Amino acid sequence: LPPVVTIDGPSGSGKGTIAKLLADRLGFVLLDSGALYRAAALAALEKEVDLADEDSLTEVARDLDVRFLISDGCLQVLLEGREVSHEIRMERVSMAASTVAAIPGVRAALLQRQRDFRLQPGLVADGRDMGTTVFPDAPVKVYLTASAEERARRREAQLREKGVSVSLRDLLEDIRARDAQDMNRKASPLAPAKDAVELDSTGVTIEEVLNEVLALVQK
Ligand code: CDP
Repeated sequence: LPPVVTIDGPSGSGKGTIAKLLADRLGFVLLDSGALYRAAALAALEKEVDLADEDSLTEVARDLDVRFLISDGCLQVLLEGREVSHEIRMERVSMAASTVAAIPGVRAALLQRQRDFRLQPGLVADGRDMGTTVFPDAPVKVYLTASAEERARRREAQLREKGVSVSLRDLLEDIRARDAQDMNRKASPLAPAKDAVELDSTGVTIEEVLNEVLALVQK
């Protein structure tokens, strides 16, 4: 089996950025598992499925027609052939993704799809349960964290770049709500794998985190 580097952690810990840079550097395939849950959530919202209806949501996940393309170094997400990369990052989809992801049937429906990304020469998998559930045998596992305040600040800077202004307090509240939902659910709650290396990115540059992860891969 091709090697896998798993990068798990809470929202805004920088795992998406690190995973992408690492995949580029190693020439590995990239799995953004959050995008899969986000696409499932968007599909459910568009079909106006009740977010409390677990059976219907599981069916949406099972039937999900989603494809990932890399174009110009950017990840494109296609839902039923339509480009939805920006739409799935919207706040209402984020919260819905976290709700949808708490349903065991949804997680089971998406499990094999995630494992199918394990291709040569290797995979970098970014998510919440990559090291615990999806790729428990991964040789390198990273659990990336940062303080909630730092994560809210990063999010604010990202949004500001896009010309969107949101209060830091609201963002902090969103992050705390999603953390609580992700950590307290029964199905694959957010937690580090026993054999994961924990890295705290608070006050650390992306370059430094990347180098630490590269050192783990090369060990
Ligand atoms: O980038 P951010 O961390 O904000 O979100 P994401 O990684 O795209 O994940 C969106 C939501 O999907 C999270 O709140 C999780 O509830 C869920 N998720 C999950 O349950 N398992 C994964 N492997 C990835 C995401």
